[in-house]
Amino acid sequence: MAEQRLTVVGIGADGWSGLAEPSRDALREAEVLLGGPRQLDLLPGPADGGVVGERRAWPSPLVPAIPGILDELAGRRVAVLASGDPMFFGIGATLARIAGPDRLRVLAHPSSVALACARLGWSSEQVSVLSVVGRPLDAVRRALAPGARLVVLSAGAGSPSEIAEMLTGAGWGGSGLSVLERLGAPDERTVTGTAAGWRGDADPLNVVAVECVPDAGLAPFGETPGLPDDAYDHDGQLTKREVRAVTLAHLAPRPGELLWDVGAGSGSIGVEWMRAHRGCTAIAVESRPERAERVAANAATLGVPGLRVVTGAAPDALAGLPEPDVVFVGGGLTRDGVLDACLAALRPGGRLVANAVTVQTEAMLAAAHAEHGGDLVRVQVARAEPVGRGGHFHGWRPGMPVTIWSLTREAVT
Ligand SMILES: C[S@@+](CC[C@H](N)C(=O)[O-])C[C@H]1O[C@@H](n2cnc3c(N)ncnc32)[C@H](O)[C@@H]1O
Repeated sequence: MAEQRLTVVGIGADGWSGLAEPSRDALREAEVLLGGPRQLDLLPGPADGGVVGERRAWPSPLVPAIPGILDELAGRRVAVLASGDPMFFGIGATLARIAGPDRLRVLAHPSSVALACARLGWSSEQVSVLSVVGRPLDAVRRALAPGARLVVLSAGAGSPSEIAEMLTGAGWGGSGLSVLERLGAPDERTVTGTAAGWRGDADPLNVVAVECVPDAGLAPFGETPGLPDDAYDHDGQLTKREVRAVTLAHLAPRPGELLWDVGAGSGSIGVEWMRAHRGCTAIAVESRPERAERVAANAATLGVPGLRVVTGAAPDALAGLPEPDVVFVGGGLTRDGVLDACLAALRPGGRLVANAVTVQTEAMLAAAHAEHGGDLVRVQVARAEPVGRGGHFHGWRPGMPVTIWSLTREAVT
């Protein structure tokens, strides 16, 4: 790609009239103007004191075409139009990734979220922003909390009804919904209601503001690991709540890290790893197809639909997967080569956590600990249950002890 500086100009639905003078100057000076057809149509021509350059609509699909277009335009003064804030889910961020930030001059404009917060009187820093543009709607579930304010970037006219339907089905039907259409345009409109009462389509250019209200009787989930066991659909193959919380503490998810959840069962470890931070990703490896399906369903219900599920048996199923930062082995330890393959997959500084319930797998972890070091911990949880008739007395019913081996791979010297 030839070197060239690109000016990226944010523009709102109010078009030319809403642009600051430096943005207008940049557009007037451009020899070529790149943008979507809707944005290019917002620019007046030379007779009205507007732009003189050649207008070029982006092709579809856009991203693969960008390097070729920039090469072709090398040496020419190019301005790129972006809707709202170019660096907010926008073409500016895409160009920075492809061409490098040093080649960009970005003239920002208020984002649709800034405008929505301005209309609603909401503090921008207190809202959770989500997008369903090319992303699964189920991810919105992760942000649901009593009193939480969300702004969801819509994929189009149908998004408000889809969001309303999801909220109602999940027990948040009383949530307030405001659909803000064509923000900044002369015909801007805001429609308000509740999720349960929502009907009909909206203007395709809209964002959806949600003020979360749980139905009476719904027990919303907390933020820390250790969701209730009944949050998951499972067939008994579930790392139970308290042990899961301790296991997640050992896994210690950090933003941007990738987990392999080997022998995923119901998927609870990968799900709670991904719920820890938006930047955490996970691959669940599960040999039984019905369980693999259940992992995907749990991930969707619990707001992390991006959890990747690989149906197959370790160690073979691990071949070719992206390098993990952390590996959890919750099942399949007795299969030949599983622990070795997981250890071999770790980069220096990578971490491994393995849980054992049976005497045989515990012996394997003790041997691995003797060979490689790390920490060996045993936890046992007892739950109070009624004893005798009448339900007046309770006794402790112990669960099976779980042995947890955790290791950080040393940097190779
Ligand atoms: C790909 S994102 C781009 C966001 C943009 N960079 C910004 O700063 O708002 C597009 C989302 O913004 C919404 N959007 C953009 N302009 C809007 C406007 N004037 N009014 C309402 N929603 C708008 C679209 O409906 C869509 O959900």
